Amino acid sequence: MLEMNNITKKFPGVRALDNVTLKAEPGKVLALIGVNGAGKSTLMNILGGILKQDEGEILINEKKVTMNSPKDAEKNGIAFIHQEPLFFSSMSVAQNVFIGNLFKSNFPFLTDNKKAEREAKKYLRLLGADDIDPHSAMEEITIGARQMTEIARSLAMGANIIIFDEPTSSLSLHEKNKLFDVIRKLKQEGKIIIYISHFLDEITELCDDYLVLRDGKMSGAGVVEGLHKEDLVTMVIGQKPSAAEKKAAGNLSEETILKVSHIVSGNLLQDVNFELRKGEILGIWGLMGSGRTELVRAVLGLDRIDAGEVFFMDKDKSLKKIKKNTLLKKVGYVTESRHYDGLFLNMDITNNCTAAKLDNYCTRRMKFIRADKEVQDTKKLIQKLNIKVPDEKTPASLLSGGNQQKVVFAKWLNKGAPVLILDEPTRGVDVGSKMEIYKIIRKIAAEGTSVLLISSEVDEMVDLSDRVIILKRGRITESVEGRDISNSNLMKLALSGGDTHE
Ligand SMILES: Nc1ncnc2c1ncn2[C@@H]1O[C@H](COP(=O)(O)OP(=O)(O)OP(=O)(O)O)[C@@H](O)[C@H]1O
Ligand SMILES: [Mg+2]
Repeated sequence: MLEMNNITKKFPGVRALDNVTLKAEPGKVLALIGVNGAGKSTLMNILGGILKQDEGEILINEKKVTMNSPKDAEKNGIAFIHQEPLFFSSMSVAQNVFIGNLFKSNFPFLTDNKKAEREAKKYLRLLGADDIDPHSAMEEITIGARQMTEIARSLAMGANIIIFDEPTSSLSLHEKNKLFDVIRKLKQEGKIIIYISHFLDEITELCDDYLVLRDGKMSGAGVVEGLHKEDLVTMVIGQKPSAAEKKAAGNLSEETILKVSHIVSGNLLQDVNFELRKGEILGIWGLMGSGRTELVRAVLGLDRIDAGEVFFMDKDKSLKKIKKNTLLKKVGYVTESRHYDGLFLNMDITNNCTAAKLDNYCTRRMKFIRADKEVQDTKKLIQKLNIKVPDEKTPASLLSGGNQQKVVFAKWLNKGAPVLILDEPTRGVDVGSKMEIYKIIRKIAAEGTSVLLISSEVDEMVDLSDRVIILKRGRITESVEGRDISNSNLMKLALSGGDTHE
């Protein structure tokens, strides 16, 4: 039994947790839910020994435990699969599994990597992840495999309490199903599982009990069975959900702003052609690994193009062939990994929000940056996107995951580019805020901004896109419009043609 009683945690300017009590039982999955910044990660960071609570106590099997470090948490059988995966990228899978306790070899100061690999293999097999080679470097394997490695690590250290913080937000459908199988297995073995997610379908599918946080306070708890999804949404966002409105099917503009012609790049992209029209939201749909991100990177000149051309409509309203690396200056680009290439983590929100449009904030002659103007605009963006922060000078690293994602979006929105490329724009964003972001995307598109959208969430594709092109193994196989953009049709199109292993 795990009990966290009356936990309170304050940060400068926020009360992240206010008298929260959590109870979890062996053999059950407890869902921890709430909007961005509600306090979910903070509560789990306390359990994981990363943060110390100001008030309250933690009991395991009715015995009080104190956790001053992750090492202490480990001793108490607590493992944490983080929202942003943590690992040593150049070290092997096996070394990562046993990182806390590497096997010593017979030679002094050396570790026995062969033994680590043998042992790691055992745990990976237990998880049904035999396909992962314990010898591979972490940086070479997929995100799903990295996550399996983290889970293997938690098993290797003998964890009884395993925390998953938004584990599925970067997984393919296949990897997600595999993860769920693993969690069910862990459950059968009597582990305590705590599961954080913004996908309420996952909660109803996987979890037994739930705890909802709102503004650091408990706003609901109980059993999942028999619970309606709508009631869950209401508990999470604190009001009845507004019905998702689909973009009104309008007449598309005839003007093409971006034309991609016969692009070939790397081993994946083969002869890709498409046009993006003015004010259009064009979805690129495909499975993980189909080449969606690679396509965007090639078009922008971030990756090498082996053949093909890119045309862009410039200020003089004519479509011109674009030189390498110049397109990047003309568009906004929300990348798929906010920590890797989305944010300046140790800079404040203001500097992040204005980073893509700094010349707008310079004094004319001396090129000094006008900090007052930066702050003014940032305040507006914070309000518009409902970003939860104490103030605009807070470093991006201290924001909750979903709020960091909103800052990435705010930065590119602020640039006001004629083309906005969005790669998983709402990853980690809660249900309520998602609807707000959709509204903003629709609005700027209606005003003439063209949007290229990549998303793994089929609902997001369906809700937003005017047109969807289907990408499969680096080729565009189809394009659908209007009523053909439906949940079931998109699933069918992505999977048809022998790609079902994903
Ligand atoms: N180290 C820190 N210093 C200051 N404030 C922090 C720190 N960590 C978290 N916070 C603040 O505490 C609040 C709760 O954040 P937390 O990360 O727990 O939210 P969350 O529920 O996990 O949200 P999300 O769904 O976006 O991941 C937020 O307002 C956040 O900005
Ligand atoms: Mg979080």
